Amino acid sequence: MRKLKSLLGLSCLAGAMLALPLAAKAAETVKVGLILSYSGQAAASVEEMDKAIRLYVKQHESELGDIKLELIRRDDTGPNPDMARRLAQELITRDKVNLLTGFYFTPNINAVAPLATEAKVPVVIMNAATSSSIRLSPYLVRVSFTEWQQGYPLGQWAAKQGMKNAYTAVTDYAPGHDVEASFSKAFSDAGGKIVGQVRMPLKNPDYIPFLQRIKDEKPEALLMFVPGSKDATAVMKAYSELGLQQAGIHLVATQDCVPDDELPNMGDVAPGVVTIGNYSVSATRPANVAFVAAWKKEYGPDSVPNFFAVGAYDGMAAIFDVVKAQKGKIDPDKTMELLKHWKNDNSPRGPIMIDPETRDIVQNMYLRRLEKVNGKLANVEFETIPMVHDMWPKLNPETPAH
Ligand code: PHB
Repeated sequence: MRKLKSLLGLSCLAGAMLALPLAAKAAETVKVGLILSYSGQAAASVEEMDKAIRLYVKQHESELGDIKLELIRRDDTGPNPDMARRLAQELITRDKVNLLTGFYFTPNINAVAPLATEAKVPVVIMNAATSSSIRLSPYLVRVSFTEWQQGYPLGQWAAKQGMKNAYTAVTDYAPGHDVEASFSKAFSDAGGKIVGQVRMPLKNPDYIPFLQRIKDEKPEALLMFVPGSKDATAVMKAYSELGLQQAGIHLVATQDCVPDDELPNMGDVAPGVVTIGNYSVSATRPANVAFVAAWKKEYGPDSVPNFFAVGAYDGMAAIFDVVKAQKGKIDPDKTMELLKHWKNDNSPRGPIMIDPETRDIVQNMYLRRLEKVNGKLANVEFETIPMVHDMWPKLNPETPAH
């Protein structure tokens, strides 16, 4: 019996040895937890992000060779930090993901950041745009944009146009507060005056009473921010239905108010609204023309990508690059080093790079005018502000730990 056992042992050992070369060859699997708001108020924009992710994977999966990339999708249902934290916890402890990505809403990534630090899981933020979020964990990198990147140059531009006073109306949560602060700082530093500020609810907002009040105040300019998706359509409709433009109030807004895919739903927004952003589908850069053509081939001639989609597309590019560079064996600190120095000279939105100091995106910001092109509303770029760094970290230096 003992002999049989030792024989079995031997043969197991031999089997194991035989299996070794095969095991060494076996494909690496990289698990990526993708947390997005597939349902709730941002579902339409998140659908755009998911389409971009699917398109990127389809175009590039052959580059991974036999590395298997497993995307595990989870729905955080909207601005819901408790849900996001729970989902991230499960993805980390049960599914043992190597990376986390997605994150449409700031409160959700803010809730997940401490888990990323604790478990050393790198996170590629594909949307959430509040400047301070990035400081919540050394394992975060952002490929989308920040609201300071938009509000600050927009405030400077508005003052340069000779606008003397402005009213601000933003959704009442962190990214809205960033738009309000960044625009107000730049505009007043350049001699403009903020004559009023309102903050509108994040959940179930009715924009009409807020905009009616602003119409009665008759400011020269109105700065607006809402968090994309259907809220953008609702606020733009309220702006035109109440006749603010006819009342001589110039709307200046962040791109969040005019996602390209929502424009056809906005009815008759009077052309001339100026917005700032990192991406417009109508941009004629060759990389964008190719991206839009591939998108339409995949999703039909009436489907267009928006800036949320481009954030997700570039987020996948960053993830693919770190997976390929490590041949599928993901080391968290090596991954962060790679992400801190990641760049893409040829994104559909133009050249982009991560600032290794802040782990935040550096990119062109474009001033655009809402115009009818071939009978359809479009965000037409008319001025480029090259390679904009977020101003917020410069104005809010980190206090060294004691
Ligand atoms: C955010 O919650 O950070 C956020 C959401 C939607 C946007 C911009 C920022 O359009």
